[in-house]
Amino acid sequence: MADASNTSAFVEFERVQKSYDGENLVVKDLNLTMPKGEFLTMLGPSGSGKTTCLMMLAGFETATHGDIRLGGVSINNIPPHKRGIGMVFQNYALFPHMTISENLSFPLEVRNMGKSEREQKVKRALDMVEMGAFGGRRPAQLSGGQQQRVALARALVFEPELVLMDEPLGALDKQLREKMQFEITHLAHQLGITTVYVTHDQTEALTMSDRVAVFNDGRIQQLAPPDQLYEEPANSFVAQFIGENNTLEGTVKEVNNGIALVQLDDGELIDCKPINVSKPGERTRVSIRPERVEYNKERMQEGAHTLKAEVLEFIYMGDIFRTRLRVAGNDEFIIKTRNAPDQVRLKPGQQIEIGWLPEDCRALDA
Ligand SMILES: Nc1ncnc2c1ncn2[C@@H]1O[C@H](COP(=O)(O)OP(=O)(O)O)[C@@H](O)[C@H]1O
Ligand SMILES: [Mg+2]
Repeated sequence: MADASNTSAFVEFERVQKSYDGENLVVKDLNLTMPKGEFLTMLGPSGSGKTTCLMMLAGFETATHGDIRLGGVSINNIPPHKRGIGMVFQNYALFPHMTISENLSFPLEVRNMGKSEREQKVKRALDMVEMGAFGGRRPAQLSGGQQQRVALARALVFEPELVLMDEPLGALDKQLREKMQFEITHLAHQLGITTVYVTHDQTEALTMSDRVAVFNDGRIQQLAPPDQLYEEPANSFVAQFIGENNTLEGTVKEVNNGIALVQLDDGELIDCKPINVSKPGERTRVSIRPERVEYNKERMQEGAHTLKAEVLEFIYMGDIFRTRLRVAGNDEFIIKTRNAPDQVRLKPGQQIEIGWLPEDCRALDA
């Protein structure tokens, strides 16, 4: 494969479309550029086109339109054994009749590697995922998590430049999943591997990735580092899909000097940051993150806009308090506050005043 320098694009999707039936596009005009060594996650609901994109990149599906390039070379022109792609999927697909060592040795044999070099690489790969003692066992003699570690080792054993993973941790329990999330990112960065990871789990995407591509309906809705995705969602879909979000519906009254004046549907006027609204009369969904809302008068920041609210439910969660309010006709308005010694615990039925800064309040598409 042609070598890409560090600054140039390693993986590129250019205006890629995909239809399975010649009629409906399941991937619509996808553009994506990844530098070498990046850990990128495709995140989105089921059916949004993530696996299709991964399959096209692996060469198992062809794009209906557009071009996919690896190291500057169109994927169609690279023979499979020269693609240097490692893959890990949810159903591990280890060969059941082979031992763990034989499973790992297989991709090396396919590449015509000699026996002593194979043994050395297999040992190193197994040690890397802390499975060095299990080489003689068969897959059925391992737990789900151990099998998944072996699958990971098998994808890495031939030192691929690119690894594709499709929901590889979906079948594992929470604790093991979190441990594996850490191990995978650690290994990928340590070995300098470029990774495309697919998940529908937003926490997984946020904690593991350098950048996240949020998919919906065959399109990338936003492509950004995790913090930017959470703090600066580009549209209502991303605001709703990533993290917890409060939505208030209203109509834009005016947009001036980078501030949108929005009339909420209960009549209240508030200042917001105009994200994708531009003119009076437009419908908008205003987005505010739960932890940006203050109800404690002493902590209220200068310039905060205040609104009346009724407490509907108070949930003690240990490190934080989660309180559900009725705000401007919305009964699902959530606020989160850190459990501090001087923090007030609200009670259902209480009438309070809440506030937030206009810059924490984003006017998005309706
Ligand atoms: N082999 C296939 N043949 C026909 N339709 C498919 C095939 N694979 C996926 N699809 C359809 O393409 C759309 C996107 O699927 P997929 O890429 O698997 O999404 P995701 O991985 O995000 O859940 C879905 O509507 C799905 O039903
Ligand atoms: Mg999928």
